[in-house]
Amino acid sequence: MESKENAFSRLFGRRKGRPLRVRKTRLVQELLPRLLITLQEGAPTSPQAHFMKDEPSPAWLEIGFGGGEHLAAQAKLHPDVLFIGCDPFLNGVASLLDHLDRDGIQNVRVFNNDARLMLNALTESSIERCFVLFADPWPKKRHVERRFIGPENLDRLARVMKQGAILRLASDHETLVEWMRECLSIHADFTCVYASAEPPADWVQTRYQEKAIKAGRKPFFMDYRRK
Ligand SMILES: C[S@@+](CC[C@H](N)C(=O)[O-])C[C@H]1O[C@@H](n2cnc3c(N)ncnc32)[C@H](O)[C@@H]1O
Repeated sequence: MESKENAFSRLFGRRKGRPLRVRKTRLVQELLPRLLITLQEGAPTSPQAHFMKDEPSPAWLEIGFGGGEHLAAQAKLHPDVLFIGCDPFLNGVASLLDHLDRDGIQNVRVFNNDARLMLNALTESSIERCFVLFADPWPKKRHVERRFIGPENLDRLARVMKQGAILRLASDHETLVEWMRECLSIHADFTCVYASAEPPADWVQTRYQEKAIKAGRKPFFMDYRRK
């Protein structure tokens, strides 16, 4: 399935940053293979297929989890939910593994690649909540197509999200917020249920949000329901 990546224009930046320290290298070598999702070309996949669970459990998806702080915190808060996190950046994956390992979190699986591949592979109506938080803003007009939230990915999200499922978005970039609100307002399958500069009641802070606030930028928070 790796080769399919080339069929897409690249949305994300680096896949690897600084060399990993010893502990994170070990986690990538030993823990990641147990949590990593590998897709089979052309084969649909249900989230539940990647967890050894007898009873049916809801599945939540985080796209672009960065250092994994939000994903790990949500997984800890909701031990009965199955979490899939997608991010192509290996150093972020290593940081997520560190959180999972330290907190003994068992209900997370990792897709270390472009989330569009996962959205194409997931079975229809299989996701009950999806987070796209502080996505790369791609502020230049000529890069609009690289923004994760856009007409094509909203179609992909609408297909995999269950009726009533929530798509949670946040950004500190005004142009991106406007763009996302515009795209969602004209999409037939989503309705806005929350839009505010105040985080929703059940909000969990992300690393990027913390940085944005420290730098004096003001995040904006949105929830959309799949009709
Ligand atoms: C600005 S960071 C935000 C990280 C995190 N959500 C936070 O708030 O701290 C954006 C993240 O999205 C990831 N990303 C970008 N394009 C992606 C894609 N197509 N699929 C999955 N992740 C992607 C990047 O690797 C990066 O980790």
